[in-house]
Amino acid sequence: MTRPVYVHDLDGLASHAQFIRAALPRRVELLYAVKANPDPGVLQTLAPIVDGFETASRGELRRMAEALPGRPPAAYAGPGKTDEDLAAALSARVDRIHVESPAELRRLGALAAAAGTPAQVLLRVNLPVDTPGVHLVMGGGPSPFGMNPEDAVQCAARPPAGIEVRGVHAHLASGLDAPLAGAVAAAVVRWSVTNVGAEEVDIGGGMAVDYADPTARFDWVSYGRALNDVLDAHPGLRLRVEPGRSVTAYCGAYVVEVVDVKRSHGEWFVVVAGGTHHLRTPAAKGHSQPFTVHRRRGADGPHSDGGPVTIVGQLCTPKDVLSRSATAGPIGVGDIVVFAMAGAYAWNISHRDFLLHEPPEFRTGDPLRVASQWAARPHQS
Ligand SMILES: Cc1ncc(COP(=O)(O)O)c(C=O)c1O
Repeated sequence: MTRPVYVHDLDGLASHAQFIRAALPRRVELLYAVKANPDPGVLQTLAPIVDGFETASRGELRRMAEALPGRPPAAYAGPGKTDEDLAAALSARVDRIHVESPAELRRLGALAAAAGTPAQVLLRVNLPVDTPGVHLVMGGGPSPFGMNPEDAVQCAARPPAGIEVRGVHAHLASGLDAPLAGAVAAAVVRWSVTNVGAEEVDIGGGMAVDYADPTARFDWVSYGRALNDVLDAHPGLRLRVEPGRSVTAYCGAYVVEVVDVKRSHGEWFVVVAGGTHHLRTPAAKGHSQPFTVHRRRGADGPHSDGGPVTIVGQLCTPKDVLSRSATAGPIGVGDIVVFAMAGAYAWNISHRDFLLHEPPEFRTGDPLRVASQWAARPHQS
């Protein structure tokens, strides 16, 4: 039994990111949210294409320094920053620190004043975004993220010593389609310029990724047009976006071997040598991960009847489900399953030590090629 493999298609990632960059107005700064996938190869592939990187922990700062020495992150964000986190962001010369509360702003001000260089700050605001004609229930409710609009107005008007407030950061939701994301951008910018006098706005990430349709993509071209309109209305504005999932989801695949196939009370189950401790995305989001199957040379063991199967992993929990009731033709022991769209919030958010199973290997290249080479090796159980 071979260990599972994560395969990153870095050429595919580069062309996808180049497409995104070309679809957005040149004046929009495209940051990549490192939290989606901090793999060094991913960061190095994106480095010449994006304008910068958004980080949200000291671990991500360290990863950036190792993978891209000499390139300070463009942003440092996240709730619950300790003084150590803030000091690390200052000494890493992060371009903008996104501050989540008035208390955090005071602590950052004290650290920056002691260091003798003012911190350049965006205030993260939890805005009740009102977009005419769009039914949007987001922001404006209780949340650990960001500060209330009235607190942001006060912080911008009277910043503590050591702080220069440059503008606003608002990451309000995930799964926005292009019309909604464009409407949110316009509303956030309008509020920020009017109420805080913002010179800069970072409108976050959250562009939709549809796991039910691996061929679908966020409409970057129409989003780019919407951002162009925003920039036309605010000619001096510095505008940033920081997508994660929609950039890297498509470049990763998790490739595993089927170890057992069985029928349980009328339903087919396929057990793979791996699971949600490697690929947590389907458990975290409650979806079925899209997959393809490579029939195994010489595999003559049990197989399903071609009807719907539920694909599970090796963990002792009924929650270890990678795909539920999907139809993919007969699947047999020894076959290779390629889970697509595993390039964002996948290995890096997984409970990887569950049952102390071995970790997957990591390779670069074409996942389907890896799977077919694997499938060509004779099966041995
Ligand atoms: C502040 C912030 N920016 C950007 C992102 C990236 O979002 P996404 O991966 O949905 O594009 C996140 C995700 O949680 C976030 O919290």
